[in-house]
Amino acid sequence: MTRHDAAAGFQQAYRGNLYDGFSHGTPGQWTTPFLEATLAVHQEQFQGSSVGTLEGGAGRGYHSVTIVRNTHGGHHTANEYDPATAAGITALAKQHLNDDSSRLSVVPGDLVMCLQDAGDLGLFYANSVLHFFSPDERDEVYGEVASRQPAGGLVAVSFKGYDDALRTRGQVVEQTAAGPIVRSHDDGIERLFVSQVDPLITELSRHGYAVQRPIAWAIPDYNMPGEDSHFVGLIGVRGH
Ligand SMILES: C[S@@+](CC[C@H](N)C(=O)[O-])C[C@H]1O[C@@H](n2cnc3c(N)ncnc32)[C@H](O)[C@@H]1O
Repeated sequence: MTRHDAAAGFQQAYRGNLYDGFSHGTPGQWTTPFLEATLAVHQEQFQGSSVGTLEGGAGRGYHSVTIVRNTHGGHHTANEYDPATAAGITALAKQHLNDDSSRLSVVPGDLVMCLQDAGDLGLFYANSVLHFFSPDERDEVYGEVASRQPAGGLVAVSFKGYDDALRTRGQVVEQTAAGPIVRSHDDGIERLFVSQVDPLITELSRHGYAVQRPIAWAIPDYNMPGEDSHFVGLIGVRGH
């Protein structure tokens, strides 16, 4: 399965109301421990300078609004594959950012294509997105990001954790060093459920990123009402 197959699965999930917008309506709607940690590292590295930020696979865009509110002056790009969902981000930004909404642009379509058109980036953020990309596709993403980042630039990416509610609701299609890849019975999407973060850290370090400690967290009712989703996030800082 390529990232485009997975993205088509998400489009169907949105159309069929299979999930109520992922973070939407959960305690992780506006922020998570991972996003808070990312913003704190961003503040340390850039201290209010106006370098650009980009969120890939932004879904309904709440985390992009939180990023704009907490990164003073820089331009933010919110990318989302599904055009209808992407259109909703513009409306959300107008509603919640007032004058600062001009600091946010929405780019519908594929994340890699969006990155290829991006300018300099202080932060690349993708929450709960790259676990349905293959290692080669992540390599392409990290290469595109690295070529646009100054020293101190950040990559903040999160993945499904091994204990996530969706892991047992599908069939294992591959065992990898980072964990099993499971094809969901519900939405047909293949996801990596991370049991070992080291291979994912190595993927980032190949592009010059030093990863601090991984951040794990859980969110109730994210995909399945009454069940927890588990995530693990990595924040990589580009070396000098
Ligand atoms: C699990 S949802 C997470 C949404 C959001 N980041 C959040 O935390 O609520 C994954 C999102 O990535 C989007 N997506 C999937 N493949 C993509 C791609 N190749 N490029 C851009 N977005 C993609 C999906 O449409 C979906 O909105």
